[in-house]
Amino acid sequence: MHQPPEKVLQWDEESKADGSAPPDAHQGAARIAANDKRIINGETDVNQLVPFKYKWAWDKYLAGCANHWMPQEVNMQRDIELWKNPNGLTEDERRLVKRNLGFFVTADSLAANNIVLGTYRHITAPECRQYLLRQAFEEAIHTHAYQYIVESLGLDEGEIFNAYNEIKSIRDKDAFLIPFINNLTDPAFTTGTVESDQILLKSLIVFACLMEGLFFYVGFTQILALGRQNKMMGAAEQYQYILRDESMHCNFGIDLINTIKMENPVLWTPAFKEEIKNLFLKAVDLEYAYAEDTMPRGVLGLNAPMFKDYLRFIANRRAQQIGLEQLFDQEENPFPWMSEMIDLKKERNFFETRVTEYQSGAALCWNDDCKACQ
Ligand SMILES: [Fe+2]
Ligand SMILES: [Fe+2]
Repeated sequence: MHQPPEKVLQWDEESKADGSAPPDAHQGAARIAANDKRIINGETDVNQLVPFKYKWAWDKYLAGCANHWMPQEVNMQRDIELWKNPNGLTEDERRLVKRNLGFFVTADSLAANNIVLGTYRHITAPECRQYLLRQAFEEAIHTHAYQYIVESLGLDEGEIFNAYNEIKSIRDKDAFLIPFINNLTDPAFTTGTVESDQILLKSLIVFACLMEGLFFYVGFTQILALGRQNKMMGAAEQYQYILRDESMHCNFGIDLINTIKMENPVLWTPAFKEEIKNLFLKAVDLEYAYAEDTMPRGVLGLNAPMFKDYLRFIANRRAQQIGLEQLFDQEENPFPWMSEMIDLKKERNFFETRVTEYQSGAALCWNDDCKACQ
């Protein structure tokens, strides 16, 4: 059975305690060769970030840092006024916003748990771990953003945060995901056999391609469609930044999956591919049920059937990205404007809408007599 590299450090500490080995037992250990690194089941020291082998992971870490943002930077005043105005939004639009947040307020906590308590410890490439640390913080920022919207609008916190227990279409999505998260967070789970490595790979695929890569997209499209009609502009701006982050999480996950496949071709069997294909089909059904539930009638020029095409388009793309065949006859993207949103550059309208009292800026004041700081 594979021993994770952390075990080496543990052995060191134990040996110090019982005096059976000198504290510097590692002195003289051979330096790391990049070629020896592996994404899973690696034997090299996970504490030594360099020499790089997986430069793509480091580059994504740098890109994530360059895209840093915080929810309080977005002005929510117009959203608050619109929400409080009895004629500001239709009942269908209000339902859509509440169901939308009902999924997202807990989804990113699930994502964070999956990274911190699950994925991280099974990945033995330190440059990938470095990205996962950045990603985990971004998931915290996303949960913060959703909470900030709920608080700004004065929504019933209990109703929104408990929606994943109360609303069937949300609960069904999470019930699909949770077993795959539990597989990785189970303290008894370790990799090192074909069977266990397939369990890990399956969870990584479900997480990147189906959760971050599919289950988020009805919700993102809805709020961004509101923003395109000059409604809930603050929320829409936050969702733009979240979408940009999530699209990078998804791309990182796909690179991770493809590299694991390349390093461990034995895992990619016909039976395994069939299992993954069925998970994709199930996920499309669940996300479509969520679209129907959030939009029982047409709203904002959108309706649930349009999302059937969109979900099929995305599922095809995700399948092809990990080397599976296309699942549906759906070549066209019914929401081409979503692609522009994903490519959003930080500069675009970011600073125009930025609140003037930016907290990080205020925290840097060194003047003891400053009235603003007292
Ligand atoms: Fe997220
Ligand atoms: Fe994410």
